[in-house]
Amino acid sequence: MNSDIVTQKAALAVDQNRLWDRIQAMGALGATPKGGVNRQAFSPEDRAARRLLADWAGELGFAVMQDGIGNLYVRKEGTEPGLEAVLTGSHLDSQPTGGKFDGAYGVMAGFEALEAIARAGLSHRRAIELVAWANEEGSRFQPGAMGSAVYAGATDLDALAAVRGFDGAALVEELGATLAAAPDIALREKPGYPAFYVEAHIEQGPRLEHAGLPIGIVTGIQGQHRYRITLTGEEAHAGTTPHALRRDALQSALAIIHALNEFMQDPDDVVRFTIGRFEVEPGSPNTVPGKAVFTIDLRHPDAATLERLGGGIDGIAKAQAGRCAVLVERVSKVAPVHFDPRVIAAVEEESEALGLASMRMISGAGHDAMHVASRAPSGMIFIPCLRGISHNEAEWASPEDCAAGARVLAASLMRLANM
Ligand code: HGY
Ligand code: MN
Ligand code: MN
Repeated sequence: MNSDIVTQKAALAVDQNRLWDRIQAMGALGATPKGGVNRQAFSPEDRAARRLLADWAGELGFAVMQDGIGNLYVRKEGTEPGLEAVLTGSHLDSQPTGGKFDGAYGVMAGFEALEAIARAGLSHRRAIELVAWANEEGSRFQPGAMGSAVYAGATDLDALAAVRGFDGAALVEELGATLAAAPDIALREKPGYPAFYVEAHIEQGPRLEHAGLPIGIVTGIQGQHRYRITLTGEEAHAGTTPHALRRDALQSALAIIHALNEFMQDPDDVVRFTIGRFEVEPGSPNTVPGKAVFTIDLRHPDAATLERLGGGIDGIAKAQAGRCAVLVERVSKVAPVHFDPRVIAAVEEESEALGLASMRMISGAGHDAMHVASRAPSGMIFIPCLRGISHNEAEWASPEDCAAGARVLAASLMRLANM
């Protein structure tokens, strides 16, 4: 057991009410009438959230920086500035009908950990940094986890130059406006990689709640592939065009989706196959659709199975496209991630030292940690959320569980910052 008085002091300095108030204040930015948030990447609401975090950080004397893809960093110096920092973080952007906790909890818990450590007057060898990763959700601009992917070198900014949002906005313009909206925040050319990374997040699933446990020790993240499928047929008159002559993009898309549903069938219910977005053009009731575009989100914890299922999509699409042309594009691909045993042990032992029961688990949801793990020993801390609901305005976590996760995070960061 390596937990010690210093890590415990950091944990006990976490203030539940201060953390809860910050989560609520952040949740007011992009708030929706049903109690959720719509704070999509590089939107005015996202810029307001970044501004609020930067202002809170400035009030505490922490350094604030942003890099070229819009990741926002808050830094608390250590006693040995030459050492690699310890990094924590998550994301402030949300789904269009998202909840107040997905992403924002991890950023607020990280900020609370920094404040608790500062107010407790605790020194640590390594600097501790908090990052709000840009565009984790990918619900406006694909691919998701964009900020952490560029940070980790999984993709580069130039490759994203032509990206347009589902709303037609140009990524480079919205990103540029976001950076320009905070001229006081120093630009960080090339952030170095940390010694360790720990991310706190709500589970976004029901397991911790079912087990009655406050803490999840995350050992890895399942792999995910994302695709865009485009069908091109021919617009025609609904009243005069015989079926034999139609090149109906919608009907072809439906045939492909039916065949994919068959192919993805899994009696063990481990495969996660989702079609989250479906667009038809021109969308007129009396015109045969000439174009259909839909997305695929495919996930599995086993790399070989994920490759096999993903590899089957193109052949099925071509076989079922009928008289339409079909284009299958893979938008992103992230292999299953296994976190570092030292970080897992640190989180597990600090939870135990705090008397917080926990269980080890794989994350079904994707997180920025899946990219950071390729550059630094990483791990995650989960807290339960109500009925496992997420990507939904009803998403909720209790003040007590939020504080418990922040305490484990503060203790883990202190421990790793002195390693
Ligand atoms: O899609 C995901 O897994 C993450 O919640 N953005
Ligand atoms: Mn998230
Ligand atoms: Mn999410």
